[in-house]
Amino acid sequence: MVTRTSSHLDFHVHPFHSRDLDDVLAIEQESFSAPWTRVMFEAELLGNPFSRFFGAFCPGEGPPVKRLLGYICYWVVFDELRLMNLAVQPDCRRQGIASHLVRYALGEGMTQGTTRALLEVRAGNDLAQKLYQTLGFRQYGCRRSYYTNPDEDAILMQLQLAENVQT
Ligand SMILES: CC(C)(COP(=O)(O)OP(=O)(O)OC[C@H]1O[C@@H](n2cnc3c(N)ncnc32)[C@H](O)[C@@H]1OP(=O)(O)O)[C@@H](O)C(=O)NCCC(=O)NCCS
Repeated sequence: MVTRTSSHLDFHVHPFHSRDLDDVLAIEQESFSAPWTRVMFEAELLGNPFSRFFGAFCPGEGPPVKRLLGYICYWVVFDELRLMNLAVQPDCRRQGIASHLVRYALGEGMTQGTTRALLEVRAGNDLAQKLYQTLGFRQYGCRRSYYTNPDEDAILMQLQLAENVQT
């Protein structure tokens, strides 16, 4: 578990579980035009040995005892880390939570032997592309009409690990 303090929020990162899915789905639905469904999350959580899930949690006041601020899902496939999902609750954005989650995932991935991180992002998602660029990711390709709802190209980004990541 890693604790992080920003000027506004104290939060810690740890794996999330099926019991956290209601909170995850609420953020997911607010964050994406084509959100993952409960079934998709459960398939990743329970049926995909490559998947890793972490949430950023802060202490709640009374029940619930903790509050989910954001989450990340990635796959570790041999030497590659594939970033699959990342979102932060809208009223907690721009406070470094996503950056912290990605760095955390990259650090975890490196301890498991990954040497390259890969991701796809909507061509129109400028904020996410900026986030990834600040973390050192660079574009290496494009997939035409990769996304639906709406139809949109995917920008492919990668980061060589080890020498580039400060966790
Ligand atoms: C993209 C997203 C995950 C960023 O989360 P976040 O916690 O707000 O990101 P951070 O605070 O760590 O921002 C890191 C950097 O990203 C860039 N960035 C993020 N949000 C930005 C904004 N609204 N305007 C400009 N730059 C922004 C900035 O470079 C920022 O660094 P800075 O604040 O020092 O300038 C969040 O906006 C989100 O959940 N969006 C909807 C889901 C999504 O698009 N996920 C990514 C799918 S590939």
